[in-house]
Amino acid sequence: MKILVTGGTGYIGSHTCVELLKEGHAVVILDNLRNSKAAVLEPVAALGGGTPVFVEGDMRDRPLLDSIFARHAPDAVIHFAGLKCVPESILNPLDYYNTNLYGTVTLLEAMQAAGCKNFVFSSSATVYGSKNSVPFHEEMPTGTATNPYGTTKIMIEQILRDYAAAQPAASICLLRYFNPVGAHPSGKLGESPNGVPNNIMPLIADVARGRLPALQITGTDFETPDGTGVRDYIHVVDLALGHMKALEKICGSTGVSVYNLGTGKGVSVLELVRAFEQVSGVTLPKVFAPCRPGDVAVCYADTSKAARELGWKAQRSVDDMCRDTWNYSRLREDLIN
Ligand code: NAD
Ligand code: UD1
Repeated sequence: MKILVTGGTGYIGSHTCVELLKEGHAVVILDNLRNSKAAVLEPVAALGGGTPVFVEGDMRDRPLLDSIFARHAPDAVIHFAGLKCVPESILNPLDYYNTNLYGTVTLLEAMQAAGCKNFVFSSSATVYGSKNSVPFHEEMPTGTATNPYGTTKIMIEQILRDYAAAQPAASICLLRYFNPVGAHPSGKLGESPNGVPNNIMPLIADVARGRLPALQITGTDFETPDGTGVRDYIHVVDLALGHMKALEKICGSTGVSVYNLGTGKGVSVLELVRAFEQVSGVTLPKVFAPCRPGDVAVCYADTSKAARELGWKAQRSVDDMCRDTWNYSRLREDLIN
């Protein structure tokens, strides 16, 4: 198949492009490089065994989208492009609504005009909010987000449901990621955001490389066994493989399907830090800090629906996640700021 991947030079998009190319799909990437670098195209091609078409541009540019659909006629779109930084979304909400909402609506309009029916969307566990209890399963009501980033995910899910109701031939998959971490096992591809990271794993790697003086453990009195936040960390390659299964499932189908992509296991910050220290042999300086506003204590997935309907299950361990992050952060200093 031919797949348009928006945000394909980003963290999850680039790993998914590798798997798409490995499966023999033709890949067209649209990315404006706001949070990624064109240099990742080289490892993507080398690891995937094929060369993606790269279009540098903005998904809000409708004439550009029309030209991509006319020229490449993709069978499906995997939509990763968007902004994802929670604190930034609180400071610049309009930027987030403009990029994430207007970007998605413009993309859907172009798809509709071109007759492209299959769409996979990067949603997030953040849509479960703080009122549901773990493990989160797909039939739970979505909650209220505590920040504009999370609100865009809830709103886009609704936009996609409304779109599918009006377009009975459309086939839409909402993939709710838990906490993607890790890197390609080759060490050639990983997470290389522009600017300062704010998620735990790239921060751990920065502290281990001596780029940051200490890791702040944000929150020590949550109602969890060791007091630190518990999350469902999932290896980015497992996540990418989940997209392959979702694509297989939705092409030729119709309607909206929703899947959690996680491991189903909760891991605390201290457990993650200990695993990283063991794998890397580096002891991380730590400071204990109050929790971040809006943070939930525990978040992990019920993964039975993805196992049952997609035949997908995450395979990689927390040690794999730590080892691959550590390898990448030392091998590709050129890609990381
Ligand atoms: P990322 O920032 O690495 O990738 C997003 C890509 O989109 C970047 O390459 C960026 O340059 C591009 N982009 C941004 N605005 C654009 C625009 N207007 N036009 C074209 N390209 C644009 O992020 P990621 O971690 O790979 O996340 C991918 C998707 O998954 C995002 O939608 C994110 O919200 C979602 N998600 C991520 C996580 C996570 O922890 N990484 C968790 C849940 C959901
Ligand atoms: C955060 C976002 C979420 C988003 C996800 C992926 C918030 C409130 N939530 O989730 O909406 O979908 O990223 O982008 O920001 N931690 C530390 N020290 C740090 C940073 C984090 O101890 O410097 C802890 C946190 O308390 C948490 C865990 O590490 O327990 C994971 O944090 P993070 O990687 O930011 O992910 P989430 O909070 O799950």
